[in-house]
Amino acid sequence: MNLKQQLVGLALAATFSVSAWSADPVKIGLVLPMSGPFAAYGKQIEHGVKLYLATNGDTFGGRKVELILKDDSPGTAGDVSKRLAQELVVKDKVDILAGFGLTPSAFAVAPVATEGKKPMIVMNAATSAITTKSPYIIRTSMTLPQNAAPIASWAAKNGIKKVFILIADYGPGYDAAGQFKKTFTAAGGQIVDEVRAPVSNPDYGPFLQRIKDAKPDAVFLFLPPGAGTIAFMKGFSERGLREAGIKLIATGDLTDEDILDALGDSALGLITSFHYSEAHKSPENKAYTDAYYRAYPNDRPNFMSVGGYDGMHLIAEVLKKTHGNTDAEKFVEAAKGMKWVSPRGPITIDPVTRDIVQTIYIRKVERVAGKLQNVEFDQVPDFKDPGKE
Ligand code: PHB
Repeated sequence: MNLKQQLVGLALAATFSVSAWSADPVKIGLVLPMSGPFAAYGKQIEHGVKLYLATNGDTFGGRKVELILKDDSPGTAGDVSKRLAQELVVKDKVDILAGFGLTPSAFAVAPVATEGKKPMIVMNAATSAITTKSPYIIRTSMTLPQNAAPIASWAAKNGIKKVFILIADYGPGYDAAGQFKKTFTAAGGQIVDEVRAPVSNPDYGPFLQRIKDAKPDAVFLFLPPGAGTIAFMKGFSERGLREAGIKLIATGDLTDEDILDALGDSALGLITSFHYSEAHKSPENKAYTDAYYRAYPNDRPNFMSVGGYDGMHLIAEVLKKTHGNTDAEKFVEAAKGMKWVSPRGPITIDPVTRDIVQTIYIRKVERVAGKLQNVEFDQVPDFKDPGKE
């Protein structure tokens, strides 16, 4: 073969490999808890991802998207999540890792993304440091410090002076407590005590008694939403903390739409800070919630579903920009600085941290048209994760 023939051969090989690559679907490996105590997380995130595809088509940048779902329940066992992510990369040959309901899952999979050179889209897990664990992580949910700082400022401005902190004993709990303490004490508030409850199946009785005895103005709470939250709220009423005049403040995980109906009237009047409410007033959220109810009439749209929806939006927009190329470096470069209007409001992917910048709203639980809703009444726009400062 002369040089010219060689060059023609190379050009042909390149053409064929490009078209073969373009014709392949983009495989997205979703790692989510689909059963056990946090099954609702997997359900909601999957709803969001699928709703995006149902609304916007499933082909972006010339490539069809294919989902491969692995159940990493209970979602708190990092070794399970890690083994499933490795299987997705090695056996299923996925191009992108996504999902991650709880922090231990995201932490455990970060090294798999780094070693396998796969973009990793975190759609819920919210400990601040997660995005620092791999250069290929991008987050479309929130961080606990991002949501805890605004409620701490609100409390300090609204006559609350002494706060008792109760958190779940793991990453997002430590982050919520740390940021609340920092913002609240800087504004002149006092933390009277702090306790950590087990993540799953705790008996809140002894904690509730300790809070009652400490007589704070308010309790600041972070628990991952689920049966534990419902048990805590029941105990809060039954043990007379409410009658004792102790207020309850929290990040919006407490009044998550997925558990709000189960909390019932005990949730009325609760003030929380959060990045998403079903009752958020915007054309984008109206379209989102209408489409959600058409697709899933037995569930309520919540922040986890929106984390999944926006995560899928990010993947779709990146694929358009890269013309279907999922190379981790190129993917992350294309995602940096991306901006769009989510059902929650305007959001940006911080080009430095790859974390989400968004508006945090202060809300109050009210009955609206017969339904308990988080009604937004104040906001902190374009708020970056203060946990990274
Ligand atoms: C987490 O494990 O990171 C987590 C779980 C549920 C939440 C927030 C954070 O509502």
